[in-house]
Amino acid sequence: MVGKKILILDENTASRSFLSNTLREQQFQVLEASSGKDALIAAWRDAPDLVLFDPVLTDVRDEEFIAKLRNNPRTKKTPLVALSSDPGPSRREACINAGVDEYLIKSSQALASLHEILARIFSSDISTIAEGAGQEQGLLIVFLSAKGGTGTSSLCANIAMNIKQVQPDSRVAVVDLVLPIGSISQIVGYEGNLNIISVADLPGGQTSGDYFHKNLPRPEPWQFQLLAGSPDPLRGNALNGDRIGRIVDTLRSAFDFVILDLGRSLSRISLPFIQQADLISLIVSTDYSTVKLTQTVRLYLQSQGIDSQKIFTILNRAVGLEGATKAEAEAIIGLPIKTTMPYMGGNFTLANNQNQPIATKYPTDTASIIFKGLAVDMIKAAHQVRASQTS
Ligand SMILES: Nc1ncnc2c1ncn2[C@@H]1O[C@H](COP(=O)(O)OP(=O)(O)OP(=O)(O)O)[C@@H](O)[C@H]1O
Ligand SMILES: [Mg+2]
Repeated sequence: MVGKKILILDENTASRSFLSNTLREQQFQVLEASSGKDALIAAWRDAPDLVLFDPVLTDVRDEEFIAKLRNNPRTKKTPLVALSSDPGPSRREACINAGVDEYLIKSSQALASLHEILARIFSSDISTIAEGAGQEQGLLIVFLSAKGGTGTSSLCANIAMNIKQVQPDSRVAVVDLVLPIGSISQIVGYEGNLNIISVADLPGGQTSGDYFHKNLPRPEPWQFQLLAGSPDPLRGNALNGDRIGRIVDTLRSAFDFVILDLGRSLSRISLPFIQQADLISLIVSTDYSTVKLTQTVRLYLQSQGIDSQKIFTILNRAVGLEGATKAEAEAIIGLPIKTTMPYMGGNFTLANNQNQPIATKYPTDTASIIFKGLAVDMIKAAHQVRASQTS
């Protein structure tokens, strides 16, 4: 439901801005109207995905407002949700008869109900996409690094968990594409047999969006769904690479976020995903050899026509306090660093070994706060890249 456009019509300014702030925080795009007439114009001109309105209007009768939207081809199917300041039953009945999808009365519980309704309306939308009807693809975020041991997999898993946490109604899939052996299943404690290798061996017709919704494990307490990586090098090297593109495409049509761990590989298999990504999260540790190699990777990505706006660089102090400062790393790599992850000593490894996200193992640690902020910033950045490409 991320990025869906909601038109809010409420004649009461305070109520309107409260609603619009709340929905913006939930990553919706919000349009506002303060009269029935303005709302009709905006609905037909801007094609919102949903209209949320207080049916107590002074310039148009509510039934007329609803009928006008219902009778126009552009808004015939747009979900209409009334959030009413009139508690009486007669207005409710009139609105429902005129064709609103939902009728809520403003109260302290209304926001929770509204949230559920939005999740339901937009998630049925997501499953239509999963069946191949829609075009909108989930956001693709890839994680990579120039060198091993920089914390790419740990950051990938923890950021994915935080993305799901800040956007609980979105569908998030993590795919471990590190070859010849993946490590995310070890970080999250998944021990099952479903992984990229086994899935790539299934007949194409079987690996639908629905298949992934139903079968990808959701390891506790990580919340996202995982397509685990290769369990060992023997099988990793036998991977049917041609199937991977199709699998990621299917996942993108069935999930709001598809998050790939590509590790340090810039291979024939991973390059197309880096090119398609809405956001490229480049993980850099502070030792000089990694920083310098990261510059090489940056130049390579540039040579492949990848827009540097898409690159989201994170400096991870995985190796202690020594090494490059943020300013030094920026100067060497030639890219701005968006966030620095602090050195967490043995705590990080301990959390990984216990299959715990940092956010649940050390909820008050600075790192947990940084992870949350990172998730919010990355969602925003990915949307911005997407919007700049489609406009
Ligand atoms: N900020 C940090 N503070 C302390 N330890 C960290 C930090 N980031 C990562 N580590 C530790 O560094 C180790 C390597 O992390 P991880 O496996 O995520 O890296 P990677 O880049 O995916 O490595 P690989 O090349 O093996 O795929 C882990 O033990 C992890 O706990
Ligand atoms: Mg890794």
